[in-house]
Amino acid sequence: MSDSLPVLPLKDTIIFPQIVVPLAVGREKSLAAIEAAVAAGGQFIAVAQEDPGIDEPNLGDLYVTGTIVKITRVERQDNGSQVIVQGDRRVKLLSQTDEDAYIAATYEPLIELDLSETSSDASEIEALLRVNREIAQRIATLYDTENGAQIYQQLVGHLTNPVIQMYRIASLANVEVSKQQETLECETTLDLMRKVNGILTHELRVTELRREITESARDDIEKQQREHVLRQQKQAIEEALGEGGDDEDIAELRQDLKEAKLPADIQTEVDRELKRLGRMSANAADYQIARAYLELVAELPWHTTTDDNLDLTHAQTILDEDHYGLEDVKERILESLAVMQLNPKSKAPILCLVGPPGVGKTSLGQSIARAMGRSFERLSLGGLHDEAELRGHRRTYVGAMPGRILQGLRRAKVMNPIIMLDELDKLGRDFRGDPSAALMEILDPAQNKEFRDNYLNLPYDLSRVMFITTANTLEGVPRPLLDRMEVLDVTGYSDLEKKSIARNYLIPRQRSEAGLKNDQLALSEIALEQVIRRYTREAGVRELERVIARLARKRARQLVEGESVSAEVSIDTVAELLGPERFKQDGSRDQQHSGVAAGLAWTEAGGDVLYIEASRTPKEEKITLTGHLGQVMQESAKAARSYVWSIAHRIGLDRDKIEAEGIHIHVPAGAVPKDGPSAGVTIATAIVSSYAAMATDPKVAMTGELTLTGLVLPVGGIKEKLLAAHRSGFTHIILPKDNEADLAKLPEIVKDDLTITLAGSLDDVLQVAIPMLKLKA
Ligand SMILES: Nc1ncnc2c1ncn2[C@@H]1O[C@H](COP(=O)(O)OP(=O)(O)O)[C@@H](O)[C@H]1O
Ligand SMILES: [Mg+2]
Repeated sequence: MSDSLPVLPLKDTIIFPQIVVPLAVGREKSLAAIEAAVAAGGQFIAVAQEDPGIDEPNLGDLYVTGTIVKITRVERQDNGSQVIVQGDRRVKLLSQTDEDAYIAATYEPLIELDLSETSSDASEIEALLRVNREIAQRIATLYDTENGAQIYQQLVGHLTNPVIQMYRIASLANVEVSKQQETLECETTLDLMRKVNGILTHELRVTELRREITESARDDIEKQQREHVLRQQKQAIEEALGEGGDDEDIAELRQDLKEAKLPADIQTEVDRELKRLGRMSANAADYQIARAYLELVAELPWHTTTDDNLDLTHAQTILDEDHYGLEDVKERILESLAVMQLNPKSKAPILCLVGPPGVGKTSLGQSIARAMGRSFERLSLGGLHDEAELRGHRRTYVGAMPGRILQGLRRAKVMNPIIMLDELDKLGRDFRGDPSAALMEILDPAQNKEFRDNYLNLPYDLSRVMFITTANTLEGVPRPLLDRMEVLDVTGYSDLEKKSIARNYLIPRQRSEAGLKNDQLALSEIALEQVIRRYTREAGVRELERVIARLARKRARQLVEGESVSAEVSIDTVAELLGPERFKQDGSRDQQHSGVAAGLAWTEAGGDVLYIEASRTPKEEKITLTGHLGQVMQESAKAARSYVWSIAHRIGLDRDKIEAEGIHIHVPAGAVPKDGPSAGVTIATAIVSSYAAMATDPKVAMTGELTLTGLVLPVGGIKEKLLAAHRSGFTHIILPKDNEADLAKLPEIVKDDLTITLAGSLDDVLQVAIPMLKLKA
């Protein structure tokens, strides 16, 4: 035991006895420790933190073994101090003495290592010492940088105390702090020699490897330079001789073109190009352009097709193998196959898969290709503005290229791939031309037999391609384009369907992605439910697949690190692996204020719950609408208010009074634009609730358009809206009476969980939504 000394926690350094180290001190407590040390004789204890991430460590966050150091110089700077210290001796920290401004602790000195502990180990120590010096020498010669070499040379050169020499190696070597700490903790000289031997061997290997890598890179560069020079010389010779064109090159190209078996008229064109190429100098800028063009012609498929597999059982098997449910869509695909079987001349229909993100539209396209044995190419239309991207640029353009359709065919190498035009609704349109015009031609069976790409500038037959398009919404897709396609709705999934998809598709897939065996990752029923409800909120399963992938990776890491874990992820381990829940609460609220009503909206991302708020305001403000509402929604808000006024007496309100004041209607998530008439009943309900000062039932959500006479009209997106309401925990839904037919498409489980009221008029709505309200006749 001894007096106590200030303690300085170190983030990424270890200070060894006798070694001089500059320290940059910035933390307030550390500066205080230095000041105290200077005042009391210039000594403190330097100890590394176990976790450098901790900003205000306690004694418990530090290693136990540290070093007493002497301050040789302190330079105070703007943002801290630069302190030069020299290690003195190793100590063990005992207990914290009470100090607020900085840590201080009592300590116990540890033995000082030296060679004089003559023992049975002496010869082994001697041997290791020599080996270590040799390795250091080798490293020194391998080092490229002067600096590195010097470091190690110094080590071998100076005949200092061997123990100090080892400490110096450990302090300079490129190893983690924890390794250095282990070195500091060595209790015998033999241990120390062994530890440093480990460090040096590792360092040697790394240095050798690094050198090999640099050398092989250097060889590469030299080879490239040589080729470059040779090529330039060759060019100069050719120029001098007036020779152009590389005959061999052209012969090869001619051969490739012959093998492409071009249609006769195309062959004529190509022959002309080839002749032109033959007359050109290989250095002419045009030569490369003409050559690239002919290469494209040679690589495009002009004859090759794959045979379709139209076997229905086979197709059904593949489709089921890849996707759960989606019965309507699968059915429709099988029908098309049947027709193609009976009438081989019939054209494959252009399917357009419409639905929220993550419901499997893109992957369904892949699956259809797999079922039919066709190759598959996907072109994302998102953000595509320029017609030329689809149709190519004329060759006279600098950097001209064929359009994406031809590029896809070139990749596919067959004339009859499935080409998926993904995200049709994200197609842009601006001054560069309207790509939808080009699409119209591509998708028109009457025109696409002779499709003209600007770059190719020859007719190309697209009629054997099967096109499939996808979109989140059909809004904004030009009508004539829509007319060419057969629209198939792919709706979102209920929690139960998501569970099946996860069990049968996503979990097995991610398990094998992560290289896990079946018994290494399983989810209990409630754990899976937890994942679906608390970590994702979406119509599709994209996010769910990501979360499961994350689970699989975490599990893989645990296994690799040798943790023993049970195969099944239980409800308790979910949070441990995935972190805190992302969606704390169900969307529905436990309690509702008056003036608030829950509406159901439909967006591109699927259904969503939208709370609509109404609040009375002074008269001058009349009607205020906020929350980024579109024109149609604003009008339906005004209509709703007028209708509520007209039934004021039946709600028990004084019409003159409410007409004399204003009302404010707000739809939160103000930055998201909202529009459409389907919030009419919700707005009216919120207004009534506000006027009557009675809350709506928090478990009720609604949708429907409202007329000026109080009738409820049908709206779209019912299935998505109901799925969203179910996801968010609502139990009672009010729908327009005329939407009854849409209920047929709803999964049973959702229907079982929900009470549904079909409303013909606002009266029907109010009775359910505001239970306390008594409507007078
Ligand atoms: N019904 C389903 N059965 C199995 N997996 C599905 C199903 N629906 C979607 N997935 C998977 O979810 C992921 C996202 O699907 P994706 O095709 O990208 O959706 P979309 O194109 O509709 O946005 C894919 O890995 C897909 O295989
Ligand atoms: Mg997609």
